[in-house]
Amino acid sequence: MALSTGPFKLLAVTALISSLHVFADSEFQWNKLKATDKLNWTPCYSGLQCSLLEVPLDYSSPAAGTASIAIARYPANCSKSEYRGPILLNPGGPGGSGVDYVVETGASIATVIGGQFDIVGFDPRGVSYSTPTVYLFKTEAERALWMKPSLKFVYPSLNQSADAIAQQWARAQIIGQLAVNRNEGNYIQHITTDNTARDMLRITEAFGFEKLQYWGISYGSVLGSTFAAMFPDKVGRVVVDGVLDMEAWFSANLTREMTDTDKALQTFIDGCAAAGPDACAFSAPSSGEVAANLDALSASIKTQPAPVITSLSYGLVDYTFLRNFIFDSLYTPYDSFVSLAQGLADLARGNATTMYAATEVPPFECDCNSTTPFHDNFFESAWAISCGDATPENDTLAQLQEFYAVEQKLSSFADLWGNWRVFCSYVSFLLQNGKIEARGFQGGGNCIVRTASKAGVSFNPPSFHAHGSPGPFGAPNTSFPLLVIGNTADSVTSITGAKSTVDAFPGSALLTIDSPGHTSTAVPSTCVSGYLRQYFQNGTLPAPGTVCQPDGVLFPSANATTEDVTARELDARRADLIEAGRTIGRAVRRVAAQRYP
Ligand SMILES: *[C@@H]1O[C@H](CO)[C@@H](O)[C@H](O)[C@H]1NC(C)=O
Ligand SMILES: *[C@@H]1O[C@H](CO)[C@@H](O)[C@H](O)[C@H]1NC(C)=O
Ligand SMILES: *[C@@H]1O[C@H](CO)[C@@H](O)[C@H](O)[C@H]1NC(C)=O
Ligand SMILES: *[C@@H]1O[C@H](CO)[C@@H](O)[C@H](O)[C@H]1NC(C)=O
Ligand SMILES: *[C@@H]1O[C@H](CO)[C@@H](O)[C@H](O)[C@H]1NC(C)=O
Ligand SMILES: *[C@@H]1O[C@H](CO)[C@@H](O)[C@H](O)[C@H]1NC(C)=O
Ligand SMILES: *[C@@H]1O[C@H](CO)[C@@H](O)[C@H](O)[C@H]1NC(C)=O
Ligand SMILES: *[C@@H]1O[C@H](CO)[C@@H](O)[C@H](O)[C@H]1NC(C)=O
Ligand SMILES: *[C@@H]1O[C@H](CO)[C@@H](O)[C@H](O)[C@H]1NC(C)=O
Repeated sequence: MALSTGPFKLLAVTALISSLHVFADSEFQWNKLKATDKLNWTPCYSGLQCSLLEVPLDYSSPAAGTASIAIARYPANCSKSEYRGPILLNPGGPGGSGVDYVVETGASIATVIGGQFDIVGFDPRGVSYSTPTVYLFKTEAERALWMKPSLKFVYPSLNQSADAIAQQWARAQIIGQLAVNRNEGNYIQHITTDNTARDMLRITEAFGFEKLQYWGISYGSVLGSTFAAMFPDKVGRVVVDGVLDMEAWFSANLTREMTDTDKALQTFIDGCAAAGPDACAFSAPSSGEVAANLDALSASIKTQPAPVITSLSYGLVDYTFLRNFIFDSLYTPYDSFVSLAQGLADLARGNATTMYAATEVPPFECDCNSTTPFHDNFFESAWAISCGDATPENDTLAQLQEFYAVEQKLSSFADLWGNWRVFCSYVSFLLQNGKIEARGFQGGGNCIVRTASKAGVSFNPPSFHAHGSPGPFGAPNTSFPLLVIGNTADSVTSITGAKSTVDAFPGSALLTIDSPGHTSTAVPSTCVSGYLRQYFQNGTLPAPGTVCQPDGVLFPSANATTEDVTARELDARRADLIEAGRTIGRAVRRVAAQRYP
């Protein structure tokens, strides 16, 4: 099934971090729009249209007030008769802004999928421009003192020190307490995936369509699958891409997602050894030696962190930094492996600046008097959604340590991934202190059943979460088959999630991408974009067993140039597709770079 091209150099170099909101903030005042239950479009950004849609905050209780969903569309450019309706997007996170995503990628997604669709980004409830927006901190300065902005992209390594997990557990209690204290209007419990699925139906209906068309990346797979399970007869086209296992997600146990992370690292190690020192700066004669050098470097940094001062900022390359730098690179190997190798090689020579400079941000500055809400609430919304979705997690520290011990057997990246569990482990503390009721604040998971049945929506199966043990999860007969996309060595969503989702939705099709990288958007592949286009345009599914190959190489040979390879190998359409794919990939990457403290 592969459309193979020769190696070509990557067309651009992506910084790991850049401001997520650089596209959106400066250009449009969302607070000037009024939310109504219809879509009233106002021109926004460049060539886009924006609208605020009013939806119930609590679908089972209209009196509880409303939420307003920020929506931006890159409009279809076809004639009325060719128009095929909206395709909703979710770029992952959770907590990623769909508005920012479509501002950046609308044109590229239209290039891939076709101009007959409105390409629609929306901020899920709780996120960014949608209200109520989750704010746990009163000001940006307060937040910055709790979570250093310079460590924005970092998961603290639970192996950094003997008490790291205890520290993280204790911090999670503070966050849980802040949420209780500052939950004005009692809204946080409604910031859950099942409610966003209901919002997606409202958005679709407001466009005048009955069935959802959707492309969800990473966490967006949870949203898409939840929608399909709740509204199986409303599935028009649903693509889930970089798929999380539903049971894992809804029980805050992402252990099984980590099973391919080491495989992804191995592609770096093997690729680097094979590429040789010209193409991979960290190369060694064998894979075993590359791996041993990497271990030695990690051990050395753990003992002695490297201080760095640049013209922009200053900080440490310590064990946590190094672990995150490596883990991060695994998301986007075609963009990142060459620079990962350079960073490691320089670090091994005693120069930590290369690695540090790749992710540094300017020192924090703000108007300390400002009380206006700050727009970037990725952490807060990610926390509310993922912990709100989970079966109430009431782990004690001892239980967490046990959990971590199990995780470590599954992946050498458990030290980073384990944070997801730790972060939602505030419930037992709050229970003991009488701050919440057992089925109150934390009960997102239970909410699915409760609100769904009250609203007359049949969630499948109805017992989902009722007894704290989720699953099975799915629907026997969706009105159109899902397209499920999984990479063979995805560092964040192992392909087991794609497989369990295909099993949960009989009739759906699995498209496998034979590559490392997180989601299809991390892999240059005209094979994949062809299947996406066919699915949305004609409803064509890939044949069982279809595997796409990447159109890129991890370590391009040092003397291949962009010009000769593009001229030789790519016709104009394919070059456009590859470039469009890279734009989409970079935007997804920026979402993923926003992390937990
Ligand atoms: C509409 O958009 C598509 C996708 O970007 C593009 O290929 C096509 O040329 C556009 N058509 C018109 C008439 O502008
Ligand atoms: C988490 O999931 C893993 C893998 O499915 C399982 O072995 C483990 O028991 C689960 N842990 C908890 C606390 O449920
Ligand atoms: C370290 O690496 C940086 C960036 O690659 C380079 O600019 C700098 O000159 C190097 N410093 C030393 C002491 O080699
Ligand atoms: C902040 O507010 C205080 C008290 O109102 C005022 O004295 C100070 O000048 C303000 N600072 C800035 C930077 O606006
Ligand atoms: C973390 O520490 C444990 C125990 O010291 C060790 O077994 C494990 O390999 C370490 N993991 C990493 C990623 O360093
Ligand atoms: C945690 O929840 C479980 C199931 O809901 C319950 O059996 C257990 O007693 C709780 N543990 C604590 C420490 O609250
Ligand atoms: C599945 O849905 C289709 C179309 O809605 C219907 O024809 C078919 O009978 C359904 N099958 C089952 C097993 O419900
Ligand atoms: C969709 O089907 C039509 C008619 O069979 C065909 O002309 C077109 O090329 C197909 N589009 C895609 C993207 O496969
Ligand atoms: C450079 O290109 C030449 C000819 O195009 C090729 O034979 C050689 O193997 C290449 N060298 C490297 C390091 O890729």
